[in-house]
Amino acid sequence: MAGDYDLVVVANRLPVDRVEEPDGSTSWRRSPGGLVTALEPVMQREDGAWVGWAGTPGDPPEPFDAEGVRCVPVGLSEQEVEDYYEGFSNGTLWPLYHDVIVAPGYHRSWWEAYVRVNERFAEAAAEQATEGATVWVQDYQLQLVPRMLRRRRPDLSIGFFNHIPFPPFEIFAQLPWRKAVIDGLLGADLIGFQRAADANNFTRACRRASNLPARSGRIRLDAEGGREVRAASFPISIDFAALDELAEREDVKARAAEIRRDLGNPEHVLLGVDRLDYTKGILHRLKAFEELLDDGGVKVEEASLIQVATPSRERVEQYVQLRQDVEVTVGRINGTHGTIKNTAVHYLHHSYGREEMAALFLAADVMLVTALRDGMNLVAKEYVASRHDERGVLVLSEFTGAADELGQALMINPHDIDGLKDAILRALRMSPREAGRRMRSLRRRVGDHDVQRWAASFLQALADHHTTEAAVSVAAAAERGSS
Ligand code: ADP
Ligand code: G6P
Repeated sequence: MAGDYDLVVVANRLPVDRVEEPDGSTSWRRSPGGLVTALEPVMQREDGAWVGWAGTPGDPPEPFDAEGVRCVPVGLSEQEVEDYYEGFSNGTLWPLYHDVIVAPGYHRSWWEAYVRVNERFAEAAAEQATEGATVWVQDYQLQLVPRMLRRRRPDLSIGFFNHIPFPPFEIFAQLPWRKAVIDGLLGADLIGFQRAADANNFTRACRRASNLPARSGRIRLDAEGGREVRAASFPISIDFAALDELAEREDVKARAAEIRRDLGNPEHVLLGVDRLDYTKGILHRLKAFEELLDDGGVKVEEASLIQVATPSRERVEQYVQLRQDVEVTVGRINGTHGTIKNTAVHYLHHSYGREEMAALFLAADVMLVTALRDGMNLVAKEYVASRHDERGVLVLSEFTGAADELGQALMINPHDIDGLKDAILRALRMSPREAGRRMRSLRRRVGDHDVQRWAASFLQALADHHTTEAAVSVAAAAERGSS
């Protein structure tokens, strides 16, 4: 049965989360993470539907409109939240795709739930899509959906975008269900990745795990009449203009000044903004800052670090451990180096609204992005978009997708604590002239490559590929008919 929408986005999460208030009422809150940050402004301009989970277990609410987007909820039971979301998605795939920073768990019951829930998302998407519609499947939680959709609806044009890294085959090979995952993804016409290296890792996995002919981002499926799937990189971005405008607002600038005053007007404000995730290198950043305080490179009277850490995946074991480690470390640094007047690290375990985030970016002289592995890292791009004053220095891990584009940041290897300390000192001492030159170049890049451009280029490539493939299959049918 075909639905009403020419464009359907399918993602594990809807752009808003359902929140049960203490008085029993429900309200909606913006969902965490970069996927929602990027896709929400795109979908606000499109007349499409967004299929996803509302963030709490139980029966799904009825379809509704939020922030100008049509939302179609998919339900997950308590057990599915444990096995599909916390288990296979965030206990198996997330660590496996992020360089096995922590050990992935491989459990058949998690995999079975993943298959079952992917079927449910595929069914929900198929119900929303008109004949010949475009369905754009998002991220690692839904890698089987493209194949499941194609089986149900061969008329659709199907795209997939992987927001996180795709690992080298030597790591991917650990996955007991590696062939099934590759086959699931190959249901798509076009598979997008953040970096060229991710697309290469994927084509190599097609060759090595599934023995498929795959060259220069094209994978040929002889079992499907020679259908070709394209894999390529489309680095994701942010709504630059919206953030630039927000950061220029007088109330936001006043709030930034107020934040600095509340900190006691230190000479230097450093900032980290992350989901509380082990991929973000928060402990490495704290270690470097602590050592700088220990050896006198920075003084607590002169420099404050604000670390904003959004609560994330709070029931997954490694996240519970990380939170403890971060909080113990912050406590130790403040206990050793704080004074009645000065706090070394301001640790904030909350989510904030867009205005407050923009004010924080504007208040920070140095932005620390020290991820050990990150598909893109939109925070780095948001910092740049907020700095219309062309001030501020971005310290950026070379293990982020953003590093491929933001060459004028101070690049660091977060494992090299001495190198990280040197980069922090260099950022603190950088002349306004050099900082301005670097920031101008960073802003040009992010301004020219915003999220609208990302979405348009992916959807255009999908349409082009689909048209070519359709022409090839018509020609093949004609050939068969004439012979
Ligand atoms: P990830 O998708 O892994 O979380 P990104 O850096 O790509 O990492 O995206 C994170 C997004 O979440 C950004 O848009 C950032 O502004 C937002 N964010 C992070 N921390 C907070 C917070 N404490 N409050 C509000 N938004 C936050
Ligand atoms: C990353 C992932 C997203 C995910 C987000 C937040 O950005 O790529 O798919 O939605 O983190 O994580 P969560 O588990 O809360 O959805």
